[in-house]
Amino acid sequence: MIILAIESSCDETAAAVMENDERLLANVVCSQIELHGRFGGVVPELASRQHLEDIYPVVAKALQDAAITLDQVDVLAITQGPGLIGSLLVGLSFAKALALVKKIPYVGVDHMAGHLFSVFLGEEKPAFPYIALIASGGHSSIFHVTDHFHYTLVGRTRDDAAGEAFDKVAKILGLPYPGGPVISRLSEEGNPGSIHFPRSWLEPESLDFSFSGIKTSVANYVKQNQRLIFGDNGAGPMHSATADICASFQEAVVEVLAAKTMKACRNFAVDNVVLAGGVAANPRLREVFRRQGSREGLQVYMPPQQFCTDNAAMIALAGYHIFRQQGAASLDLDVYSRSRITERV
Ligand code: KG4
Ligand code: ZN
Repeated sequence: MIILAIESSCDETAAAVMENDERLLANVVCSQIELHGRFGGVVPELASRQHLEDIYPVVAKALQDAAITLDQVDVLAITQGPGLIGSLLVGLSFAKALALVKKIPYVGVDHMAGHLFSVFLGEEKPAFPYIALIASGGHSSIFHVTDHFHYTLVGRTRDDAAGEAFDKVAKILGLPYPGGPVISRLSEEGNPGSIHFPRSWLEPESLDFSFSGIKTSVANYVKQNQRLIFGDNGAGPMHSATADICASFQEAVVEVLAAKTMKACRNFAVDNVVLAGGVAANPRLREVFRRQGSREGLQVYMPPQQFCTDNAAMIALAGYHIFRQQGAASLDLDVYSRSRITERV
């Protein structure tokens, strides 16, 4: 079965072609980072307009890379939500038009379910059940996963998502959007023990997160140390001071993400733990997960970095399983901004 998948939920237009759940034949990701960079975050109206421009060439490139034509596609998989409504609508309308004209069955895929599936794009695949942390720009959620279709939300952020905290701290430091990659790079040159930013643990048994406090602490620290960070004449950020803030901030976020996920593993007595979502591309988080996981006697699984941030390969894989289980969706499928799987039952 050949699956063509399209992802357009935020600021990446992506298309992928997969054969069954095994062979990834094409994986094209077209990022809008440059477009949104000067605004310090994604501008929804600009995002949907850019998706409109990019979607045709991106899908055409995916078909070309896979060396197939549309007539060889058996199933279309399309991100239905959560995300920006205008952006999602571009992908869904495009997929519906293809489905209608070419008479190809299609399925809607939840973007968060896609991130959960992304770990199966790696060489080593976890056995069920497992605990999964999905840390991205919009969510920081811990799931207890018992099979491909059953996920129970056991922890989530009460305010900012982890990726959002990276993005906001980058903005405070005058660093470019998105914050995650630049903060993780600068952190390598900084001292993670130089500044103690508060860790928010919430109630003793809670598996929830809160990252708005640390963002405020960084903002206060920056305000109080303007000269140290931006130099005497405000000429620009001082490299070593900025690197120390990045490393200390990153360490605090990583510590809380890892500790709560390990606690969830103990609570549910699982042997396997999964880390995915854009923040899972963070090398320090990956290292701490591996170390703490093995100390806890867990098998640790994470997708290769390219499949942590948004991509359509994970949507193709999820679409394959959804189509096999549920068959095709009807043409009245609609987009949604909030995921049902990230709501507590
Ligand atoms: O999964 P994703 O691509 O999109 C959403 O579904 O939100 O995640 C994007 C988020 C952004 O907030 C970005 O700053 C963060 O993932 N991110 C990182 C890293 N690479 C991307 N955060 C920390 N370290 C990284 N290396
Ligand atoms: Zn995502």
